[in-house]
Amino acid sequence: MEFNRKDILDIASLSNEEITFILDTADKMKEISERPIKKVPTLRGKTIVLFFYEPSTRTKLSFDIAAKRLSADCVSLTASSSSMVKGETLIDTARNLEAMKPDVIVIRHSASGAPHMLSRYVKTSVINAGDGTHAHPSQALLDMMTVREKKGGLAGLRIAIVGDISHSRVARSDIVGFTKMGADVVVSGPPTMIPKGIENLGASVSHKVDSAIQDADVVMMLRIQKERQSSFLFSTEREYAREYGLSEKRMEMMKSDVLIMHPGPVNRGVEISPLVADGKHSVILDQVTNGVALRMALFYLLAGGIRNVDN
Ligand code: CP
Repeated sequence: MEFNRKDILDIASLSNEEITFILDTADKMKEISERPIKKVPTLRGKTIVLFFYEPSTRTKLSFDIAAKRLSADCVSLTASSSSMVKGETLIDTARNLEAMKPDVIVIRHSASGAPHMLSRYVKTSVINAGDGTHAHPSQALLDMMTVREKKGGLAGLRIAIVGDISHSRVARSDIVGFTKMGADVVVSGPPTMIPKGIENLGASVSHKVDSAIQDADVVMMLRIQKERQSSFLFSTEREYAREYGLSEKRMEMMKSDVLIMHPGPVNRGVEISPLVADGKHSVILDQVTNGVALRMALFYLLAGGIRNVDN
C-alpha cells in the first residue's frame, strides 16, 4: 500500500487499511529497538521539530527517541521557552518554523483543533501529539498495536474504558480507532465525567463499572484530569478509588486473560491500585515500548515514503 498522507491529525480521518498499514509498519520498526545499536539511517538528513505546549513524558520522549533511532535530526520547543511568551501567535510561530525547512512538526496543544489549524498554514507534515480534549492519534495507534500484539487481532474484542471520559482525548481516539477496527467499546465512570453524545463516536455507556469490566478483554483505566476540570466532578479521591478504581478485588470478577492498560501518567491508588498496575495482566509498560516503534512508523511513513521522494 502507498501511504499518501501529509499529516496525522486524528484517527477519524484514517481508513481501516491505513491503520492496519501503520500498525504493520510499527511491528517491523519494533525490532530496531532490540538491537545493540538502535539506529538505522532511514531518515538521515530529515529534520523533525517537537513543539509541546503542554507537559509530556511518554509522548515527547518517545517521539524524540523515534526520530533519533531513524537518524533524523530532532529539535524541541516548549511554549515557555518560545517567543509565544512575547505574544507571537501559533500561526506566526509555525510559519517561522516552516521557514527553517523541517520535514515534520509534532505538536501538542491545550486547544482542541490547534494541529488541524496549523496543518492548513504549513506545507510541512504535522503530527498531532494531543490537542485539548479532542484527539491523541499516536496514543490510540500504540494502544491498538499493543492489543493486536497481545490478542492477535482487534475485531470482536470488548474494550472497557473507565474514568474521566469527558476530558480524555485518549478515550475519544481509542473509541474511534477500536470501533473502526471491529471491537466493541464500552465507557464507564462517574456520570459527571461521561460526556453527552459519546455514543455518537461508537461507544456504549455503562454507569456501573463492574458491568463494564466483567466481560472485557481489555480494560483501559484513565486518570482524572484535574487540570482540565473547571468544577469539582467527584467528592474525594478515596471515594473515587472505591467506586471507580481498579482494585485487586475487582480483578477477581474479570476474565482470566484480561489486559489492563493505562495511557499514563498513572495516579496510583486513585484510578488503579499499585498491585494491579504492576500485576501480571498489566501491559502499561508494553504500551510505552510500543509507543517508540509506532512513532518511528509515523515518521517513516510521513518523511521517508514515496510521497516525499516524488513531491
Ligand atoms: N500518554 C501520554 O500522552 O502521556 P504524556 O502526557 O506523558 O505524554
